[in-house]
Amino acid sequence: MATIRLGDEAPNFTAKSTEGTIHFHDWLGDSWGILFSHPADYTPVCTTELGTVAKYKAEFDKRNVKVVALSVDGLESHKGWVNDINETQDTTVNFPIIADDDRKVSELYDMIHPNADSNLTVRSVFVIDPDKKVKLMITYPASTGRNFEELLRVIDSLQLTAYHKVATPANWKNGEDCVVAPSIETKDIPAIFPKGHKEIKPYLRMTPQPNLN
Ligand code: BEZ
Repeated sequence: MATIRLGDEAPNFTAKSTEGTIHFHDWLGDSWGILFSHPADYTPVCTTELGTVAKYKAEFDKRNVKVVALSVDGLESHKGWVNDINETQDTTVNFPIIADDDRKVSELYDMIHPNADSNLTVRSVFVIDPDKKVKLMITYPASTGRNFEELLRVIDSLQLTAYHKVATPANWKNGEDCVVAPSIETKDIPAIFPKGHKEIKPYLRMTPQPNLN
């Protein structure tokens, strides 16, 4: 298992899932992707998480993001559990769940943290861009369910900053002012950001979000 760092190519793999065999890079195609692990099937927090992701599917689609979940349980377990998720969370699971009972993918992505639990994956999130580069990694413990609003927020930031010379400040949300990238000289800002800018300090220049009308 090699350490994965931001900017690395997301390791490729082939695995069984509830929607058939996934050849990861081919499955991603030209889309952004989220690979997220959950500790175990038939557990309460995971049930709420996967139900929540199903409800957010349209938001991920809007952002051209494909979502795939994973746990170290097998395919039959996943299939049975999906019925429970659909029933209890009032939704329909609409994304694949990888069956990683041989731990191949979990180990490839370092999702098992033995000092937390040697048998289960932690709650990892990997956001991958269309070049297959890892753009974000988040790790939560089993006891804390993830905030999928935050995941959408961070995807908005990753996609904005991938295509425009801005960064996003603390607690930024889509539509709010952005920070001009430090690599841009103040004299060049008007040509790059014609909507205007405010120089608060020579190193802190704000501009309206550039990809909005
Ligand atoms: C849960 O999803 O509820 C859970 C899974 C493993 C350990 C603790 C909680």
